Amino acid sequence: MVSAATSGPKAVQPGKPGATDKSPDEPIPSRIVLAMQGVTKAYPNGRMALRGVDLTIPEGDFVFLVGPSGAGKSTMIKLLIRDELATKGVVLLDGRDLGRLKRRDVPKIRRKIGIVFQDFKLLPNKSVRDNVGFALEVTGAKRSTIAPAVDRVLRVVGLTGQAGQLPNQLSGGEQQRTAIARALVHNPRLFIADEPTGNLDPLISWEIIQLLLRINELGVTVLMATHNAEVVTAVRKRVVALENGRIVRDETGAAYHRED
Ligand SMILES: Nc1ncnc2c1ncn2[C@@H]1O[C@H](COP(=O)(O)OP(=O)(O)OP(=O)(O)O)[C@@H](O)[C@H]1O
Ligand SMILES: [Mg+2]
Repeated sequence: MVSAATSGPKAVQPGKPGATDKSPDEPIPSRIVLAMQGVTKAYPNGRMALRGVDLTIPEGDFVFLVGPSGAGKSTMIKLLIRDELATKGVVLLDGRDLGRLKRRDVPKIRRKIGIVFQDFKLLPNKSVRDNVGFALEVTGAKRSTIAPAVDRVLRVVGLTGQAGQLPNQLSGGEQQRTAIARALVHNPRLFIADEPTGNLDPLISWEIIQLLLRINELGVTVLMATHNAEVVTAVRKRVVALENGRIVRDETGAAYHRED
């Protein structure tokens, strides 16, 4: 639950411990939100975009996905939202094998993910409030639950005052914050951002990063693909680097570029 009222990393639920016969000092293993095992992706034209990728993301993590253009970052994200299927290997989201999902279960799994892109993909004729509310409406949510949910996420992203405006009446940063609110309104387990600051100037990019960090503090696991070296190096979170479809680095508290 993302709420402006709750705060701090304590909002992270470290999984549901089963039997409690363990000593109280033993750390509770955190739940795994995402696991990729031996994942290869070959596109129909023969292009190998991922080659034997293994990646585990525990609940509460904040991960920067970096690497040169064409390294496979967006492909990895497409596999996570089941836009594409792995050619080989397994992708598990919240324990569910995405490759073996029945078609009718896909929307339910997709709702576990909130996603934003470089281009904000807002509906041009709908206000901020309606862009966010529409994301719940299409899932069949009751009207009475939509309004409070929308108000809550607009508070989280700081757009309460702009709720009635259309996308073309917003700055780029405000448009991205609207997209973030829309991605959060389902209370996703995993928040994915594919170059969310690619179209924004440096100052506004920082505002968006601060917002993603805050969302992470509220308990949502975050995966962000980016070329923004300055931000990655300053923030010191986990960095997973892809090159030519392979993970070449996976370090916690790391800089954008390898430091050794
Ligand atoms: N639908 C597709 N069909 C064929 N090849 C594709 C397709 N989508 C991506 N590719 C190829 O797969 C490789 C990885 O692309 P991807 O978009 O995942 O890279 P990226 O790391 O996101 O790059 P960027 O930083 O430029 O966004 C590239 O060589 C690309 O040309
Ligand atoms: Mg990309």
